[in-house]
Amino acid sequence: MSMIFAKPSMRTRVSFETGFSLLGGHAIYLGPDDIQMGKREETRDAARVLCRYNDIIMARVFGHQDILDLAKFATVPVINGLTDYNHPCQIMADALTIIEHVGRLEGTKVVYVGDGNNIVHSWLLMASVIPFHFVCACPKGFEPDKETVEKARKAGISKIEITNDPKEVVQGADVVYSDVWASMGQKEEAAYRKQAFQGFQVDEFLMKLAGPKAYFMHCLPAERGVEVTEGVIEAPYSIVFPQAENRMHAQNAIMLHALGL
Ligand code: CP
Ligand code: NVA
Repeated sequence: MSMIFAKPSMRTRVSFETGFSLLGGHAIYLGPDDIQMGKREETRDAARVLCRYNDIIMARVFGHQDILDLAKFATVPVINGLTDYNHPCQIMADALTIIEHVGRLEGTKVVYVGDGNNIVHSWLLMASVIPFHFVCACPKGFEPDKETVEKARKAGISKIEITNDPKEVVQGADVVYSDVWASMGQKEEAAYRKQAFQGFQVDEFLMKLAGPKAYFMHCLPAERGVEVTEGVIEAPYSIVFPQAENRMHAQNAIMLHALGL
């Protein structure tokens, strides 16, 4: 498997590399300086070359079009390891984690608090196929992509709510979910976003409002004291480490499926 990384990673890289090795495969890490997709090499050329050496391509890229182009031009399965638009492997691992801790994903209430980003888009796509109650509480102007929200609503499978007040919607949550306020590629906006996201930190008060059955989840890496408090991420109801572990198990299943095994 070739693993193309245009952005940094710990979990995605190590879980794919270790997981594929456990399955009997060999993964090759290609960092931001190796291919320089779109600069040193066109994406469509990289796709057509790598698939002649490898049985799978996994890629973490900036623009979502890059993953679509890799999939279009490669003759082997291409796995999305995160784009600016979505992060499907993360949400597959998250679903597995919720099944393990709550017992099922169907019928649960997942309240995401923060930026309407790639994680939210993958939750919305998950809500288009599995019935649960998905709520995204984000500041005004940081809502998820309208078309993706529409698609999830039109699917008519799940209850979808987009709101600007986490306190109003958090009660009864099975999971309160958080992610960084400035994603990879937005780090120069971090200071401005910190201002705009005041009131969207997941703290002990919000978890109390959520109620006693609520777990805390975060895709990691986390900025303690910014989108989540130290107390919440270290609390017994925080399941961020089993969640991180499940990246590997979920992806192993995805790879076996992609290879038809
Ligand atoms: N959650 C996640 O994708 O982590 P990395 O950025 O470390 O891969
Ligand atoms: N939204 C974050 C997720 C990191 C796993 C980012 O894109 O940086």
